[in-house]
Amino acid sequence: MAVAKSIKMYLTIFVATTCIYMVLYQYHLSRQPIPQPEYIVKPPLYIITPTFRRAEQLAELTRLGYTLKHVVNLLWLVIEDANQTSPLVIHTLNRIGVPYEYFLAPMPEEYKKAKKTKPRGVSNRNRGLEYIRANATSGVFYFADDDNTYDISIFEQMRYTKKVSMWPVGLVTQFGVSSPIIREGKIKGFYDGWIGGRKFPVDMAGFAVSVKFLHERPNAKMPFKPGYEEDGFLKSLAPLNLTEIELLASNCTEILTWHTQTKKNANAAALNVSTYGDTNLVELNKFLVRT
Ligand code: UGA
Ligand code: MN
Repeated sequence: MAVAKSIKMYLTIFVATTCIYMVLYQYHLSRQPIPQPEYIVKPPLYIITPTFRRAEQLAELTRLGYTLKHVVNLLWLVIEDANQTSPLVIHTLNRIGVPYEYFLAPMPEEYKKAKKTKPRGVSNRNRGLEYIRANATSGVFYFADDDNTYDISIFEQMRYTKKVSMWPVGLVTQFGVSSPIIREGKIKGFYDGWIGGRKFPVDMAGFAVSVKFLHERPNAKMPFKPGYEEDGFLKSLAPLNLTEIELLASNCTEILTWHTQTKKNANAAALNVSTYGDTNLVELNKFLVRT
């Protein structure tokens, strides 16, 4: 009788201990990170977007931002040509919800005063490059102006750029498109309505660069030279041969980015507060970007 009792007791202890171990083991497993297959972790994309204060600013950033929201593992570097941060831009970026950094990079006064064409977005892009040099170790960066249209598939293609990749951009010059000219799979020149003696007559929206490649070229930056920003930057990436350029958009046979150029809107007229001071227009007025 006593033997049966002690067997029962030992069995109970054994079962209880086993159960406790199983629970602890399950807990331990649940704390382990789920192993990610290699192919799920995509190289990071850094999207450098110059922006500046004007009536269309929030509309442009909203349109671009929601496009970028479809793209994983992306950091949006929004860089404003201004001396002070804009609460409206910050509000818009927070609302969109794409991971971002927001910096200021005003155009130097000497260029701002110039009566001729200005080097638009150059200080912004160089600030973006500075961020990448200081913070990024892998992946790819791309200059995405705020007034363009982007098919999201181009982001998945440019993500794997080893050195520099290129593709066509629609709505550029009287030719309707700016593109490398490809014959038998190789770049034979550039199709663009304005060549202007450039080695790389391409649009800002038509190329991406690997972060590692940039790190190997510590002096690469964009010149303050209207019309020659792309060419100057690509030349600063030397050594870079045409044969090394990776061709995207199905060997440059598709248009996946466009230089849309939004119509310029005048500053909104001032709100007459004595007439509308007790209406919704007071709140709305806060969202009108005026220069
Ligand atoms: C085109 C190219 O897309 C630019 O990258 C290039 O700098 C320019 O030509 C040039 O060759 O000078 P474009 O359409 O003429 O640009 O100029 P915008 O679209 O007005 O500006 C380009 C980017 O810079 C935009 O993202 C815009 O928001 C920004 N920008 C523009 C500023 O940051 N400050 C300005 O005063 C004007
Ligand atoms: Mn533009």
